[in-house]
Amino acid sequence: MPEINVALIGHRFMGKAHSNAYRQVRRFFPGNLVPRMKVLCGKACTEELEATARQFGWEESDCEWERVVARKDIDIVDVSTPGHLHHPMVVAAAQAGKHIICEKPLANSLAEAKDMLKAVQKARVTHMLNFNYRRVPAVAFAKRLIEEGKLGDIYHYHGAYLQDWIMDPEFPLVWRLEKKYAGTGALGDIGAHAADLAEFLIGEIQTVTGMMTTFIKERPLPAEGEGAWGAKGQQGKGKVTVDDDTNFLARFKNGSVGVFEATRFAGGRRNHNTFQVYGSKGSLAFNMERMNELEFFDRTEPTDVQAYRTIIVTQAEHPYAGAWWPPGHIIGYEHTFAHGLHDFLTAIDEGKLPEPNFRHGVRNQALLDTVERSAKSGKWEKVKI
Ligand SMILES: NC(=O)c1ccc[n+]([C@@H]2O[C@H](COP(=O)([O-])OP(=O)(O)OC[C@H]3O[C@@H](n4cnc5c(N)ncnc54)[C@H](O)[C@@H]3O)[C@@H](O)[C@H]2O)c1
Repeated sequence: MPEINVALIGHRFMGKAHSNAYRQVRRFFPGNLVPRMKVLCGKACTEELEATARQFGWEESDCEWERVVARKDIDIVDVSTPGHLHHPMVVAAAQAGKHIICEKPLANSLAEAKDMLKAVQKARVTHMLNFNYRRVPAVAFAKRLIEEGKLGDIYHYHGAYLQDWIMDPEFPLVWRLEKKYAGTGALGDIGAHAADLAEFLIGEIQTVTGMMTTFIKERPLPAEGEGAWGAKGQQGKGKVTVDDDTNFLARFKNGSVGVFEATRFAGGRRNHNTFQVYGSKGSLAFNMERMNELEFFDRTEPTDVQAYRTIIVTQAEHPYAGAWWPPGHIIGYEHTFAHGLHDFLTAIDEGKLPEPNFRHGVRNQALLDTVERSAKSGKWEKVKI
């Protein structure tokens, strides 16, 4: 089977999740192209990077991303770094003719996102954006039920992505809390997922009105090290320049209405990525913390037996599930990355464009941009690309 050589940039959270997916994908999803884990790239050439590369199964490590993306023996560049690096890395990789998978959100601004789309289109390379929650079997199954008309006309969409990891005011000013690295805070980090899932399931959002709040305005500068973005050697406190919480209302093109919340200040909610969809014939509810389950309410049943049922989405008939274990043998967060990678490799092999790709990334970025604009103007704003 032909091998396809991969360079992964980023060796921490997403580096770990993506490395696991490269190792697992062909063991569960047979396919023509087999990824070869060539080089893992991090910010600094340390023993820790080298040890991580060995632990994750990479042949080499490097800390010069420009050198890595220019290598002739690399076919795929995987961008799993903080947002401010997505644009330069993607543009360079596209110019070098590499296929690209990029972590979300695509960029830190709409202008950057558009430029990245232009670069991959000009280079005619395959591009994918890793909105991995689309590939939770229960979410892909929800999409199937909606498309089959099981919910009828959709009235309401509720999307809430709640976390609580920065509630302690002493939590340091990591890159996710600075605009110059992250673009936005809760909005781009987790609200981007909520917005993408809504457009995936229901369709395009046309107008929004939003508000953004920063509860803790200053935080201790991080200690020297990987997380010490721009604050090396300094002591004291630094300004938080992103939102801790973002809320917005939305009107969809098809007449549905939506309510969204993205926050890192919801105590006890560790990774509470949820949606509810209410239609004329039925309703759906999903919670990532119980990701193997989908709640379905069928309004067409006689009222005396109507009730939400909990479907365990592990049947062979369910999306992706059959490749793993027998029914009822549940899967986890990491499996969503293998699903995405399988679809990406298949798309490269077949010369097709996978979804979501950078076009969806530009739309998502336009939506984030519109929420920000509305939070500033205090008005309803139209999503403009
Ligand atoms: N899809 C998801 O579920 C999900 C979850 C978390 C993060 N993300 C996204 O993944 C991306 C990375 O987030 P993370 O949580 O892995 O961040 P992280 O802080 O855990 O890791 C960042 C990595 O980038 C590397 N890096 C930084 N500067 C670099 C440079 N100049 N050259 C080479 N490498 C460099 C660091 O060495 C580190 O390995 C972000 O875009 C984030 O939004 C997606």
